[in-house]
Amino acid sequence: MSKRHTPLLLALLAALPLLLQPLAQRAFATDPAPRASTRDVKASGRPAFTGAEGLVVQEAPSMPKDVGDDQRRQRNYPEQPPVIPHTIVGYQLDLRANKCLTCHAREFTGDSQAPMISVTHFQDRDGQVLGAVSTRRYFCLQCHVPQTDAQPRVVNTFRDVDSVIRDSRSPGGEGK
Ligand code: HEC
Ligand code: HEC
Repeated sequence: MSKRHTPLLLALLAALPLLLQPLAQRAFATDPAPRASTRDVKASGRPAFTGAEGLVVQEAPSMPKDVGDDQRRQRNYPEQPPVIPHTIVGYQLDLRANKCLTCHAREFTGDSQAPMISVTHFQDRDGQVLGAVSTRRYFCLQCHVPQTDAQPRVVNTFRDVDSVIRDSRSPGGEGK
């Protein structure tokens, strides 16, 4: 290549982005404009640009309400950790403090009238009963959970052992 053409070539290279820009813009202009259904607009008050044609954006159901009626629930089997029948919003439960124990620890149940943590909560992994709550049972929410009024997504066909035994004994029952 002759020396005469070098400046021209450099100038062309420098202008390349400028020359290509209209091309790029045209490519975007041909993309289908995002359209929002009236339903989307109604849900959020403004169009939802999902970018996907035909995608149905569902309105989120409202948050289920906490159950806090203080009615202790029947357990489904004896080893089940009972569910929590009161709200626990804002209860501190970490290395520094355990709000649950301020009511459920043995020494406070007289005042709180809360059921005492049972003896299994004092046992270490060898079954030795300790003087205070075992570290294995310190983080209550590992096993005990509060409830909400949310409806189950899948039908539950669980039957407790009493109803199984009753059915198997009744004439024409499963055991016959
Ligand atoms: C202010 C006192 C208080 C605090 C704090 C408290 N509870 Fe309770 N809890 C009770 C009382 C009283 C009951 C009995 C039922 C009722 O009145 O709600 C109960 C019931 C329960 C039950 C049901 C027991 C059963 O046999 O059905 C569980 C499980 C439970 N609480 C766990 C917890 C956990 C976990 C925490 C901490 C996140 C906690 N509680 C904090 C007072 C308290
Ligand atoms: C590793 C699981 C686990 C952890 C952690 C745990 N629990 Fe329990 N809890 C159970 C089981 C299982 C039962 C039912 C059998 C029993 O009483 O041991 C129970 C029973 C209870 C009961 C009912 C006792 C009774 O005699 O009716 C209360 C109240 C309770 N737990 C509170 C607590 C509190 C408060 C904490 C936290 C300090 C806690 N639990 C931590 C598993 C756990």
